[in-house]
Amino acid sequence: MFLTPEEMDLLSGSQGRATQKAMQILVALGEIYGAKRMIPVTSAQIAGVSYDNLGEAGLQFLAELAEGGGRVRVPTTLNPAGMDIENWRALGIPPDFAEGQERVLNAYSRMGVTLTCTCTPYLTGNLPKYGEHLAWSESSAVCYANSVIGARTNREGGPSALAASLTGRTPEYGIHLPENRIPNLTFQVEARLVDSSDFGALGKVIGEQIAATKSIPFIQGVESATLEELKSFCASLATYGGSALFHMQGITPDASTCIPPGEQLTINQSDLEKAYTSLTDAAGDEVDFISLGCPHLSLGEIERISHLLEGKHVKREFWVTTARATKLLADRLGYTQIIEAAGAKFAADTCCVVAPIKGRFTAMATDSAKACYYAAAKNKFKTIFLPVEKVVQQALI
Ligand code: F3S
Repeated sequence: MFLTPEEMDLLSGSQGRATQKAMQILVALGEIYGAKRMIPVTSAQIAGVSYDNLGEAGLQFLAELAEGGGRVRVPTTLNPAGMDIENWRALGIPPDFAEGQERVLNAYSRMGVTLTCTCTPYLTGNLPKYGEHLAWSESSAVCYANSVIGARTNREGGPSALAASLTGRTPEYGIHLPENRIPNLTFQVEARLVDSSDFGALGKVIGEQIAATKSIPFIQGVESATLEELKSFCASLATYGGSALFHMQGITPDASTCIPPGEQLTINQSDLEKAYTSLTDAAGDEVDFISLGCPHLSLGEIERISHLLEGKHVKREFWVTTARATKLLADRLGYTQIIEAAGAKFAADTCCVVAPIKGRFTAMATDSAKACYYAAAKNKFKTIFLPVEKVVQQALI
């Protein structure tokens, strides 16, 4: 692998132990994947923030980099943490967990990482431009950045995203390369897409079709899609298909330059209905937890929830998960007050998947196909998957 004199210098350790370690990680990755060189990145986004996932071993890795002089060289933001940084007690987070989580955040902060704690960095200031190379690791955001924005990033692990941040580089392989961004399977969508949960269901259906082959889908037949719908679709496609890139005719920026692949599958209404059914294994009266905001909610989605909850009172634990910056806007606009007056709780900086709530609830209702997957796999909850309006109704009965 070719390294420039500057990269050789970083690797030699002359700029500190942490930068050297970061360069070693990137060179090893590049060699595994056959990269010919490093390329500059304009931003990094790091997953692997929750103390629930990192534990002491992960924390030690971060502390060593911070103590070894590691400092970000490009704007770098963080995925959700295991708790609301300001309001963790109200969400039932144990104090010893909070202490571990604070040490994790402190290590990132010492390296200059911005503690946004969100999986929607593109809504809160880390918004790449078309064609930029990035090192992002949250799977839904990677899919969004590649597909909806037209930036270029592999799905990094937390350590490799941090290594890219500390050096400003990443090895050039995978979907940084134009030849690896060409679609090879067409999906003709003939189903009605009304709510963002429909896009989540669509992502599950397509994801499951491409999971084994890792095909890049070219999607036809979707007439329009909002930011929130694409956010939901990306989360689902990445979860069920491991996909980091799709093209959607008339919607995503690179689709117009693609030749639609000859091999074609059709998605109809019954496929979507089956997806809804497959993500629902709880009875309504079993639901003791409601969670909205996977991926983190936009301000518009919070406004909608506030309208749905205005003057009502929820009867079950109800989390509204979003980025801190988005919540601050919701505070100013009065949405927070309406939602909290209804008895729902904001869980900023975190989410129902990365918070340490395994076994705390029996069944969760949500409008997120991704959240259903992890609720079952990680937290052992049953799930009910519904459009947002019906999820809110579920909380009121
Ligand atoms: Fe975000 Fe947590 Fe869902 S990180 S995409 S809200 S699982």
